[in-house]
Amino acid sequence: MKAGLIGTGHYVPENVVTNHDLEKIVDTSDEWIRTRTGIEERRIASDDMNTSDMAYEAARDALNEADLKAEELDMILVATVTSDMGFPSVACQLQERLGARQVAAMDISAACSGFIYGIVTAKQFIEAGVHQNILVVGVEKLSKITDWSDRNTAVLFGDGAGAAVVSNVSEGKGILSHELGSDGTGIPYLHQTDEDHIYMNGREVFKFAVRQMGESSLNVVHQAGLTKDDVNYLIPHQANIRIMEAAREKLEIPVEKMSKSVDRYGNTSAASIPIALSEDVKAGRIKEDDVVVLVGFGGGLTWGAVALRWGK
Ligand code: ACO
Repeated sequence: MKAGLIGTGHYVPENVVTNHDLEKIVDTSDEWIRTRTGIEERRIASDDMNTSDMAYEAARDALNEADLKAEELDMILVATVTSDMGFPSVACQLQERLGARQVAAMDISAACSGFIYGIVTAKQFIEAGVHQNILVVGVEKLSKITDWSDRNTAVLFGDGAGAAVVSNVSEGKGILSHELGSDGTGIPYLHQTDEDHIYMNGREVFKFAVRQMGESSLNVVHQAGLTKDDVNYLIPHQANIRIMEAAREKLEIPVEKMSKSVDRYGNTSAASIPIALSEDVKAGRIKEDDVVVLVGFGGGLTWGAVALRWGK
């Protein structure tokens, strides 16, 4: 039995906030943000759109693409650090809203690596023969924990949701290999403050990310018994174009074979990889039998990567 992604979906709020809009709030410039991060604009959810609302929209899209009814789900996993409330989980909110059966539902807290943690967890249940169909959502409303007076962080983040249905796929397809990791000594560099804001030491996170993204990408390729020449497409966590480029160079992938939405959405944490994946699938940039590498890093510090062969 092999686990793979049989449907993907995403949702981003309508409200676009450009770099020029942010110039009016903090001491920054469109030029600084574009050259240091690659971000041009981001989506910010309205006050009446919460994390669970975005998760619901992305989940519906993924279920449609998978041609699956919510009642056929055996488990719901939601990766987020910005749930509507401490408890219950967004996953439980989705169980009710989607009309799923009374199956296991839980949130995963692994910051920007959360979606990879989610699909790797789903893979274990499916390949053990315990479950058939698992919904995995990555969703964030980072705007509610952003300190809009701190230029170090306010320019980086955005809101959105992405989702995938993980199910049995034919032999040779699906998730070929994975790597997950954590290093709590990095907590001082990236965490939520007592005031519930994001604190980040950008330089330290940057150094870690550049090294980890390249290493983890290569590790999953080798673990799958492949070489970097076999990789058709790379979806790195959309945090900063310079970090993404480092991973791309390590895999020696041409620029058009790397997913890029950081310019339009900024860093949407757990949502960034599934949003990018869903857009790439809808646009036909990922084709049957392509070898795709997903790789991310985030607060924890955490990291994760998978190599998969696309198709059912
Ligand atoms: N506008 C203008 N100047 C700024 C801004 C801004 N928005 N932000 C910082 N600066 C200033 C700094 O104050 C600093 O000034 P100084 O030299 O006088 O002290 C200067 O720009 C340079 O700062 P650096 O930190 O050297 O800039 P760098 O090139 O490293 O880019 C950045 C900063 C973009 C934050 C980068 O370090 C980065 O991307 N780090 C990784 C961030 C990340 O990916 N985090 C992901 C985790 S998020 C999560 O898990 C929820």
